[in-house]
Amino acid sequence: MKVAGKHTRTIWLAADAKDGIGAVEVIDQRKLPHAFVTVRLETLDEAATAISDMWIRGAPLIGATAAYGIALAMRSDPSDSSLAAAYDILLTTRPTAINLKWALEDLRHTLKQVPPERRAQAAYRRAAEICDEDVAICSSIGDHGFGVIKEIAARKKAGEVTNILTHCNAGWLATVDWGTALAPIYKAFDAGMPIHVWVDETRPRNQGASLTAWELNQHGVPHTVIVDNVGGHLMQHGRVDMCIVGTDRTTTNGDVCNKIGTYLKALAAHDNNVPFYVGLPSPTIDWTMKSGMDIPIEERDGTEVTVMSGRTKDGQVVEVTITPEGSPAANFGFDVTPARLITGLVTERGVCAASEAGLKKLFPGQLSAIGPSGRYWSLGFGVTYISGAVLAGFNQELIWELFAPDGVSGQTRHLVSVLTTVYPHVLAVPGLALLIAGLRMSRLVFILTGLFPVVATIACLAIRASY
Ligand code: MRU
Repeated sequence: MKVAGKHTRTIWLAADAKDGIGAVEVIDQRKLPHAFVTVRLETLDEAATAISDMWIRGAPLIGATAAYGIALAMRSDPSDSSLAAAYDILLTTRPTAINLKWALEDLRHTLKQVPPERRAQAAYRRAAEICDEDVAICSSIGDHGFGVIKEIAARKKAGEVTNILTHCNAGWLATVDWGTALAPIYKAFDAGMPIHVWVDETRPRNQGASLTAWELNQHGVPHTVIVDNVGGHLMQHGRVDMCIVGTDRTTTNGDVCNKIGTYLKALAAHDNNVPFYVGLPSPTIDWTMKSGMDIPIEERDGTEVTVMSGRTKDGQVVEVTITPEGSPAANFGFDVTPARLITGLVTERGVCAASEAGLKKLFPGQLSAIGPSGRYWSLGFGVTYISGAVLAGFNQELIWELFAPDGVSGQTRHLVSVLTTVYPHVLAVPGLALLIAGLRMSRLVFILTGLFPVVATIACLAIRASY
């Protein structure tokens, strides 16, 4: 997007980089909206600080910065141990946005296949690709979301303004370019649609008031900043036609984790029949997690709640304390909006229901890897191993009577006896491991199928007793 008329991304390689390797530059988002300042990241530690101290923020941009963090580490030391340490350091910078882990795993996987002397180049190349991919994904979310806005606008009188409410900043500052929730708004505005954006202030860090408002201003999109509690009132009075927000992590059941306060907006939207959409790039989907309730929620320092910064009349940016001395503050960064409150997920592949079925339709390969078939497969194996082990352990004598009623030589009997004693224990180990994997995926399936070896063992004991 443009800053003062100049096309700008949120992260880029410094102009003095040589052969694609060098420092990385980002916008210091802590200084917005009062000053547009860029900052150079020279080292892994600087990249980690930029993420944890929120010089940059927003799930996709956190992922892109982490990728460059690995590249910076490889520039100074491309060894295996340096790669592992960089991965660990960056992974702990922020807990909620899954794009961080996604990007780190991508880089680690890519670099493990490359000899150390070529790792720096490969890391910078892959980080740049991740940035370009993010731009393409967000642009595509913009196109699909624009379709949604057009549908909603078509229900209004011709020429009437479409009012869209958004929370936090899921604009281009939160990504590499375009944004997720704001991309459809930019596409609609650029196409000449009359739109207006209600911008939630988004306490405590004010990403809405400081960043979303700044972005929309730069682009000329009509908007109004509101405090966080206004949305419900506006919805009750028909002044919001749709909501669209971003996400830091979406689980396979369609639950959406986003900036604290999103859930309350979704509840108000549901109560007032206002469509509630989520701009969702696929790297923000946690394919290993089934429910939003399992997502780790970041808790930041309470001073972000008790102290606010702002510009004085004479242009100074100052900090002021707004709470009584000694009052403690809690600072939860994110909340989870259950799938049932979400009208649709706007992804780069189209719009889908916020559900496992909806995601599976758009991303069939991803879910089949961990989906029901994989789950049943592992449980099936686990149950077979364990029941085989249990049956054999309990029934050595029965096996003899069934398969060698007339007796065999002493040597054969000895060999078979050793095998039937050892193999139940060998089989039980992978069997247990597979069952635990299955248990983590679905308790109900585990309980139902887990009954099988119990029933089978009881049946065997009963048969043996009758001999
Ligand atoms: O704490 P932040 O500013 O990193 O939180 C950002 C958000 O919650 C965004 O809505 C989310 O990352 C989606 S960004 C496209």
